[in-house]
Amino acid sequence: MLLALAPMQDVTDLAFMRTLARVESLPDLFVTPYFRSTPTTCALAEQNLRCIEGNETGVPIEAQLAGSDAAAMVRDARHLLTLPVRGINLNAGCPSPLVNRHGAGAGLLREPENFRAVLQALRRVVPEGRFTVKCRLGWAEDTEFPALLELLAEAQPDMLTVHARTRKDLYGGVPRFEQVRRAVEEMSCPVLANGDLQTPEQVMRCLESTGAAGVMIGRGAVRNPFIFRQLRGGAAPSRDEMREYYRILVEETGRILFGIRTEKGHCNRMKKYLAFCYPDFTPEQEYALRRCTEVGEMLRLLLS
Ligand SMILES: Cc1cc2nc3c(=O)[nH]c(=O)nc-3n(C[C@H](O)[C@H](O)[C@H](O)COP(=O)(O)O)c2cc1C
Repeated sequence: MLLALAPMQDVTDLAFMRTLARVESLPDLFVTPYFRSTPTTCALAEQNLRCIEGNETGVPIEAQLAGSDAAAMVRDARHLLTLPVRGINLNAGCPSPLVNRHGAGAGLLREPENFRAVLQALRRVVPEGRFTVKCRLGWAEDTEFPALLELLAEAQPDMLTVHARTRKDLYGGVPRFEQVRRAVEEMSCPVLANGDLQTPEQVMRCLESTGAAGVMIGRGAVRNPFIFRQLRGGAAPSRDEMREYYRILVEETGRILFGIRTEKGHCNRMKKYLAFCYPDFTPEQEYALRRCTEVGEMLRLLLS
């Protein structure tokens, strides 16, 4: 079973990757949050480059590209391949209107001819074994998926992750894992299932019903980073281990903010992760954490 951490912009950053290493619960693969790739992009997102350059966890990392212009994406893929990355991942799932307006992210699924052009162009430039894709089931309906799978099969990526929702679903509704099963049947590469996998039990059920080669986990891993350890047969985290997780996350977040750190800025960055952890706190604690602007106070709340 292959375990990947799902890319989440501003969340699965270098601080979070280092935290997973320190709590000794690492996945098999990291994927950077997307680098926006357009004809006029001059510089690739600094924060995501740091995930690659500062990755001393030993876990391979793929660089993710979101774009719709094949030439620009080839240019940026070539550049990213000069860095210590395992490969290039194509983002065909981001639902942000800003990104979709330009036909990128899930916008690719709405324009199959361009999706095909981007897939083929990246496949040509990215070496064998190093080109992967992350996609949704379609733009509006999952009935779009079979035709999309044909394009994907034709491009022969080296791995496919399926977020089992359409763009219209955004992050809501029940993931349609039966479509992941379809992908497993149609594709010759390994397929990873993604979407709302929060517990080891859910992961095992999903693997059984889909036949997927593994899973990609995002929000569930921010709420419980020990899920990777658990999926390798390790124990569920104790309350003390969760406290240690929050403490390390505060420390690592301070480390990446070095030089530009302010109390409020540090708390605001912490809140990007905590957004997925609030179900484990009381409403009073959540309220206090949301309002908190001092790191000492935040630590007190998290460790209480
Ligand atoms: C805050 C946030 C940021 C995200 N950023 C990205 C991204 O940069 N690239 C990407 O492919 N998906 C991104 N996603 C989607 C996740 O990778 C994942 O597909 C989705 O959250 C479903 O998986 P999960 O339920 O395990 O989190 C993001 C999701 C969230 C909530």
